[in-house]
Amino acid sequence: MKSLKEESKMNKDTISVIDNRTGRQVELPIIQPSQGPAVIDIGTLYKELGYFTYDPGFLATASCQSEITYIDGDEGILQYCGYPIEQLAEKSSFIEVAYLMLKGELPKPDELKKFEDIIVHHSMLNESLKNFFHSFYHDAHPMAIMVGVVGSLSAFYHDSTDISKADHREIAAHRMIAKMPTIAAASYKHSIGEPLVYPKNDLSYTGNLLRMMFSSPCEEYEVNPIAEKALDLIFMLHIDHEQNASTSTVRLAGSSGANPFACISSGITALWGPAHGGANEAVLSVLKEIADVSRIPKYLEKAKNKNDPFRLMGFGHRVYKNYDPRARIIRDMCHKVLGELGSANDPLFELALRLEEIALKDDYFIQRKLYPNVDFYSGLIYRAIGVPSNMFTVMFAIARTVGWVAQWTEMISDSNQRIGRPRQLYVGPEKRNYVSPDKR
Ligand code: ACO
Repeated sequence: MKSLKEESKMNKDTISVIDNRTGRQVELPIIQPSQGPAVIDIGTLYKELGYFTYDPGFLATASCQSEITYIDGDEGILQYCGYPIEQLAEKSSFIEVAYLMLKGELPKPDELKKFEDIIVHHSMLNESLKNFFHSFYHDAHPMAIMVGVVGSLSAFYHDSTDISKADHREIAAHRMIAKMPTIAAASYKHSIGEPLVYPKNDLSYTGNLLRMMFSSPCEEYEVNPIAEKALDLIFMLHIDHEQNASTSTVRLAGSSGANPFACISSGITALWGPAHGGANEAVLSVLKEIADVSRIPKYLEKAKNKNDPFRLMGFGHRVYKNYDPRARIIRDMCHKVLGELGSANDPLFELALRLEEIALKDDYFIQRKLYPNVDFYSGLIYRAIGVPSNMFTVMFAIARTVGWVAQWTEMISDSNQRIGRPRQLYVGPEKRNYVSPDKR
């Protein structure tokens, strides 16, 4: 990766900022990306003019440079390392895309085989971790268990926490990707009071997860190939989405030099919120609440009413002001999977399709460019596979771990990397003197 400083120096394009209060002027370099809008390097602004910039929610601020994911939200384009998501969804697999994210290139057949073997052989958990699961309250939310257990991994795998060493970073990345399905399934098994299931090395990544979640010691279990394939596709579509809330959290935590397990755990907590990864669980609750096509107008009015906290979950996106390309692929998959799994007439799917149709004709949604996002249809596939709704965000976390790990690794190897430390616009009281309790 080119140094941003070198790039800025080489670049002749600048933008002038004139302070109309003092007449002072500064030339700020414009950095050209490989795709997308150019960015202004404001690094010298404070030094030259004494100003910070203010951009709550990072609406127009690039927090880093990255070679991993590209999104054009106006056109509805998503690419992983340059490859359009539609091509990957049709031709590739979760594990192949995971390799792509970590290495930047698609693997040759032998490289893929080696990578699959590595991931399979890291899927078991340290046996003492089992006790950890058992000490959670019996009806704990599986996301709560996952946050705790992933955070604890650094206590079990000390030999991969020296982030200055490339081999430590690599083994930590492999461990995390490999162990997430095992942790997710164990969180679920604990929450339903069933024994934890060990991974099996002859199964695929998603086949293994299904078996660890749904098999019991009392009977044979056969992985359903349709469920296995559908899950593989959903996971691939969720792998990364550039600098979203959870990924930025992972980067920020990592910028202080924290170990990778701690950083991924912080990403899981950020993902949990209903405005982010928690939306897939919330979509199903909303669909159940609406319950019937005749009630859609009432709920659309609620979503539009600023005095009502109700939002149409699974709609809207910070970056996409067009149809989320992942939602389109998942919607098509939904038709296929529900048909093949014999739940083609799922009334909630019918309801979701009608809701989309009606909302997309509504002025409020048209003006604000609110389209279905990745979470709108994914829950319906999970439901058809038998995944309970409190596990939806956990499933998201398994897939997103690849993106978190790739972004974390990229950040650590970036020569521009410094501790993340935003400034603020202070609007609190001016300096005042302490008042003793009897005078307040
Ligand atoms: N229902 C109703 N109105 C909405 C919705 C929605 N789902 N989403 C946005 N709006 C409205 C806002 O009220 C706002 O209206 P206004 O301009 O009249 O004030 C306008 O559309 C812009 O929305 P913001 O909230 O300002 O957009 P922001 O980029 O900050 O938020 C977000 C994006 C959080 C995704 C939002 O659309 C939302 O809450 N959606 C529902 C939750 C959801 O599905 N999250 C998953 C996102 S995908 C992911 O994280 C994997």
